[in-house]
Amino acid sequence: MLRVRVVSVVGARPQFIKCAPLSRALRARYDEVLVHTGQHYDPEMSDVFFEELRIPPPDHHLGVGSGSHAEQTGAMLVRIERVLLDERPDLVLVYGDTNSTLAGALAAAKLAIPVAHVEAGLRSFDRTMPEELNRVLTDHVSALLFCPTPTAVQNLAREGIREGVRLTGDIMADALAFNRDLADATSTVLERLGLAPEGYLVLTVHRASNTDDPERLKAILGAVGEVDLSVVFPVHPRTRHALAQNGIALPENVIAVEPQGYLDMLRLMGAARRILTDSGGVQKEAYLLGVPCITLRDTTEWVETVELGWNVLVGVSPAAIIAAVERLAPTRERPPVYGDGRAAGAIVDAIGAYFEGRGE
Ligand code: UD1
Ligand code: UDP
Repeated sequence: MLRVRVVSVVGARPQFIKCAPLSRALRARYDEVLVHTGQHYDPEMSDVFFEELRIPPPDHHLGVGSGSHAEQTGAMLVRIERVLLDERPDLVLVYGDTNSTLAGALAAAKLAIPVAHVEAGLRSFDRTMPEELNRVLTDHVSALLFCPTPTAVQNLAREGIREGVRLTGDIMADALAFNRDLADATSTVLERLGLAPEGYLVLTVHRASNTDDPERLKAILGAVGEVDLSVVFPVHPRTRHALAQNGIALPENVIAVEPQGYLDMLRLMGAARRILTDSGGVQKEAYLLGVPCITLRDTTEWVETVELGWNVLVGVSPAAIIAAVERLAPTRERPPVYGDGRAAGAIVDAIGAYFEGRGE
């Protein structure tokens, strides 16, 4: 049987969630070595996902932690390179668009190890976003590009990338399909917070554009403070720091909670009346769960959600936020634009075909 040795690099919350279904599928056929860069390190940003989603413990924990982009990415590069020299993998797998993604891809590419990018081809076309730089650069050094949507395939073609591109569906649809019933059966978060289904909103905010500018953060919170519903707000550590540093108080209807585990988050989102977010993953999950989404940004990579009417881009305009909370009521179908929850199998097959094609 074909033996392929894969080093998977993860480091931030959404990457733990994405790696859970893929790691399971990879390990059924190949050898996987899991590297955690340490980009996210609070227990509720990291350990909780390993425990809940039964992700195997990392083989290497690089303990990089927080810092400026250069400090963080540079430290990751040095430490990932050491691991790669030691482990000698056939392939390095990276997820999404964080600094851990770019560092994993660049360290591997410089050692002439093929890179596989899960969630390739996404574009917001806004290069002021650190994520956009990470995506573009990672795609351009990748040998295998696993695209969640046809839009992503087209984006790559426009940049001249055609080789190694595979339309696999979205790995987050796998994660959601695998965990949704479990979340509904086991999570007690609504009871603990005293929430009635469809009687509240969920808010998440963590993007640099919204947290690093106190005026934007105030505008978002001011707008949700005007709404006549409870707003559950799992606060990302970056946002917690920004609120404290700028002395921004939360409106009375906002229920601030710690970052949630994935199962509680799924339950919270699934029963919400509407979701307000600047997260990439949360926009997609809102669509998959059939909950209208109000995106606190001017652009999105997940254009299908907007085109199908389930998501609206409002930036941080209070009037637009309030109007959307009151009126956004999508009626259109939700075709399976993010695949059928079987991306992991497609990715594992594509990895096999790649190495068989190379005669290994
Ligand atoms: C990162 C990603 C972003 C992704 C997000 C997912 C980059 C450039 N950004 O943003 O694309 O959407 O993860 O959640 O890679 N902090 C803690 N504890 C932690 C982690 C972070 O306190 O466990 C605080 C630190 O003050 C840190 C700040 O949050 O400086 C930002 O963390 P960082 O990992 O740099 O970026 P995120 O905003 O989390
Ligand atoms: N998420 C979670 N708990 C939270 C907030 C988000 O489990 O308190 C999950 C969410 O359901 C999604 C992923 O984290 O699966 C999205 O991560 P995040 O918003 O941090 O990053 P992004 O997707 O914007 O890169």
